[in-house]
Amino acid sequence: MSSPPVLTTEAELKEALAPLWEAQRPLVFVPTMGDLHRGHLSLVELGARLGPVLVSIFVNPTQFGPNEDYDAYPRDLRHDLDLLEQIDGVEAVFAPDAATMYPPDDTTFVEVTGVGEPLEGEFRPGHLRGVTTIVAKLFLLVRPGVAVFGQKDAQQCLVVRRMVEDLRFPLRLVFGPTVREEDGLAMSSRNRYLDGEQRKRATVLVRALRRGREALEQGERRADVVEALMLDQLRREGAEVDYAAVRRVDDLSPLERVEGRVLLAIAARVGSARLIDNFCLQVDEGGVREAPLRDDNTFEAVASALR
Ligand code: PAJ
Repeated sequence: MSSPPVLTTEAELKEALAPLWEAQRPLVFVPTMGDLHRGHLSLVELGARLGPVLVSIFVNPTQFGPNEDYDAYPRDLRHDLDLLEQIDGVEAVFAPDAATMYPPDDTTFVEVTGVGEPLEGEFRPGHLRGVTTIVAKLFLLVRPGVAVFGQKDAQQCLVVRRMVEDLRFPLRLVFGPTVREEDGLAMSSRNRYLDGEQRKRATVLVRALRRGREALEQGERRADVVEALMLDQLRREGAEVDYAAVRRVDDLSPLERVEGRVLLAIAARVGSARLIDNFCLQVDEGGVREAPLRDDNTFEAVASALR
């Protein structure tokens, strides 16, 4: 197979998408910042089952804080194209430059209050606003029928969902499950920042999440106790913790007793890499089971709605 065409300007994008906008099957959009790994590819594969896929690769400056890794963020278009070439159904890659997405006179932001405020909203001020701004701009350019996001970034999913509802973007969202390394570490471009010893320690995030889930399985329902267990494990293994939280999935508000659809969410630094991970669980009298973030946004739900 040959690699998908790379479009960089708005004009090229429009020309390539015009026939896809008219087609029977929905145009499926998978936004990324590149440095693709199996997590990204799983979203592309999921999307390709619904329709022709456009992947965007754009390291979005507005979602990085002043002391974050915008400059260091890995960029390797050739590597990304080699991976995408192996997937059937990728129509094109949109890889604009910063001036295309943010002309010099651009001053508009899209900001989701409420669900965008706690957790990442608190520890990375401006980050989610940068995400919703670029995603809104991309949605307006690409005009997809379906857009696919990873549950690995659960709050990002929830914030984009809120934005899509509030601004009435005419598209459906699919949230794909988190792809993990064999030892449980959630795949992330930022795992590249870990050296050998840190890479081993980085599994502490998923181990802390498992510890939280085990406590729930054993009948613990006090959110603060579950949070303390996760925090304790993270700290004992030298992770610098931003948060280890149990929240309602709906609005990410705190709860005293753990019940219903909840998110166990962790952000912590291992070495210089800031990593995040989460489990979404349904907790009720019957017990504890893994659950999708939102039932409407599973692949199956969207596939059946499109039929
Ligand atoms: P990026 O970090 O490149 O991720 C692109 C998409 O891949 C996101 O939807 C993310 O949740 C998903 N993803 C990342 N790691 C994953 C994993 N291990 N398993 C499954 N999916 C995974 O998220 C962004 O880029 C940006 O914020 C973006 C939405 C592109 C806006 O700039």
